[in-house]
Amino acid sequence: MDTKRWNLVNGNNKEEMIKEAAKLLKAGSTVAFPTETVYGLGADATNEKAVANIFQAKGRPQDNPLIAHVATKEQLLLLVKDVPDYVNRLIDNFSPGPITYVLPSNGTCADNVTAGLETVGVRIPSHPVAIALLKECNIPIAAPSANISGKPSPTAADHVWEDLYGKIAGVVDGGPTGVGVESTVIDCTQDIPIILRPGGISKEELEEVVDKVLVDPAMLNKEEGHVPKAPGMKYQHYAPEVPLWLIEGGSDRVQQVYDELIAEGKRVGILASSVTLKSLHVDQKISLGETLEDVAANLYDGLRKFRQEDVDIILCDTYPEYGIGQAIMNRLRKAASRYISSEEAGK
Ligand code: TXA
Ligand code: MG
Repeated sequence: MDTKRWNLVNGNNKEEMIKEAAKLLKAGSTVAFPTETVYGLGADATNEKAVANIFQAKGRPQDNPLIAHVATKEQLLLLVKDVPDYVNRLIDNFSPGPITYVLPSNGTCADNVTAGLETVGVRIPSHPVAIALLKECNIPIAAPSANISGKPSPTAADHVWEDLYGKIAGVVDGGPTGVGVESTVIDCTQDIPIILRPGGISKEELEEVVDKVLVDPAMLNKEEGHVPKAPGMKYQHYAPEVPLWLIEGGSDRVQQVYDELIAEGKRVGILASSVTLKSLHVDQKISLGETLEDVAANLYDGLRKFRQEDVDIILCDTYPEYGIGQAIMNRLRKAASRYISSEEAGK
């Protein structure tokens, strides 16, 4: 398949490009587009065959449901039933934005969108290109992150191109995404909302709007025997090309592990905040920026940049788990093949 690429960053007939991409989506093709979190791979959520092409292109496990994207609250409510009152408050405060509500499906979305579950994840993205495309289509668009399953999510059209060229009908290039980590997924089928995946909206922000927010125990990664309620959370994810070691305890610890590996003849790359990098003496490094927001925005690009030709191991430092730091650490734990705690590194 020849994959089209519409450049909305420099192009001067943006409306025409959006129309062309929307036409393909309405005809049942798969088209990738930017959202404020990551690029999504879209298809008509009411068309089972179109949705099947998403699973095919990504190599995605069939039991992992997709998020349906819409432009407005009214359209969102057309896909679900039994909406608790607190969902209205959440929508009014955080949508459009990086948040997904899991609600009972009313059957409008195709069965493979929900992977056979009774619920459906619904979200209103805030990226202007996503909104323009959804308005032009006027249908719900099912869209997982537009990467090959298991790889880091795409935060630029080039990432989508690298993974899915030849497998999808097109990519709308809207430049780099903003938030950089995916939406917060919240189970809204109970009296109290439960975070199934941390993301662009933090627990603290949610708690300003609803009294209580729970966290799916499986997400904390610590307790054995808990099956995640978001099926996607149980799979290996965000894996870079070379093994990533996550190192607790600050720049001294990172330097220590680095020195040991170099002494063993290993080629080591460092992925760290600019603050950590300042106090390190290392050769191959990528800065994730200064603030937690910078780190979220640069994380997936950083994970994709280190190549097997250049390094054997990537070392990455840890981040405080508040605000968007919760999503960053959730993704890093999944990406890492080894976690070195402060005590272990100190030996
Ligand atoms: O920011 C985002 O959410 C991006 C952009 C493109 O919108 N999308 C995204 O989709 O990250 P995906 O498919 O990569 O991740 C969706 C997550 C998966 O962990 C999936 O299992 C969970 O949401 N999910 C979707 N529908 C669900 C449902 N009905 N019940 C429980 N979990 C659900
Ligand atoms: Mg994904």
